[in-house]
Amino acid sequence: MLEINITDDFSEKMRKLRAKEMDGFNVTVPYKQKIIPYLDEIDEEAEKMGAVNTVVKENDRWIGYNTDGRGYLRALKSKFPAQLEDRTKRILILGAGGAARGIYYALVHDGYTQIDIANRTKESALDIAKLQDEQTETHVLTLDKAEQLTNQYDIFIQTTSVGMGQGNEDMIISLDGVKKSAIVSDIVYQPIETAFLKKAKSLGASVHYGHTMLLYQAQYAFEIWTNKHVPMNQMDEELQEILKG
Ligand code: ATR
Repeated sequence: MLEINITDDFSEKMRKLRAKEMDGFNVTVPYKQKIIPYLDEIDEEAEKMGAVNTVVKENDRWIGYNTDGRGYLRALKSKFPAQLEDRTKRILILGAGGAARGIYYALVHDGYTQIDIANRTKESALDIAKLQDEQTETHVLTLDKAEQLTNQYDIFIQTTSVGMGQGNEDMIISLDGVKKSAIVSDIVYQPIETAFLKKAKSLGASVHYGHTMLLYQAQYAFEIWTNKHVPMNQMDEELQEILKG
């Protein structure tokens, strides 16, 4: 891992990285945008996201990808394969930051047609909704409105940082009224079980944990670098152990 401090000369670090023998690397916050001018090529999805999390080195050229959204969707599908077959499920994305953007894009491109977005700031949600295609139906909601409509959704995807941190009991919306058949997913992975997911469970809904997204994003990146598929096997349990400290 290459640690970069905020005071470091980023260009100089990139020059050194260029000289290294490797197939590629991952980029994390806060460098997902900053890396872009250093690439030789950027994949269409990453360009639309305005963020790169995976770089492949091919014949000395750096090509940037973004596997966040697709990695997330792969994680969700692997846990709920039958439910995710139906592309008309009503999906609500909570939040409209970078993660929401990647997930929305992945859902649209996988053919899901009913994807609403609820966010504190309406403009960011409207901006994400521009990524829809001709089959997508998207409504932008306030968080209050989303709270009143919980019984209408089949899948909830919580993408904000609300609820992050041990002991944090905050929830982006109250889930009262959620259907027992609903899937509630939270991308927050610290704690593994957020208050939002606890509440969903107590209401009888199925839950999907955020840490699995990390695993599948990594699996995706590895495929891009090597063309090899890595089975998940025990990795889920191992990551949970690491996160629990
Ligand atoms: P990321 O790129 O990881 O998704 P981000 O771009 O900082 O992170 O996005 C954070 C999201 O969490 C945004 O949707 C933000 O809402 P705003 O667009 O209104 O800022 C949302 N968010 C963060 N803290 C929040 C809070 N206390 N209440 C409601 N939404 C919150």
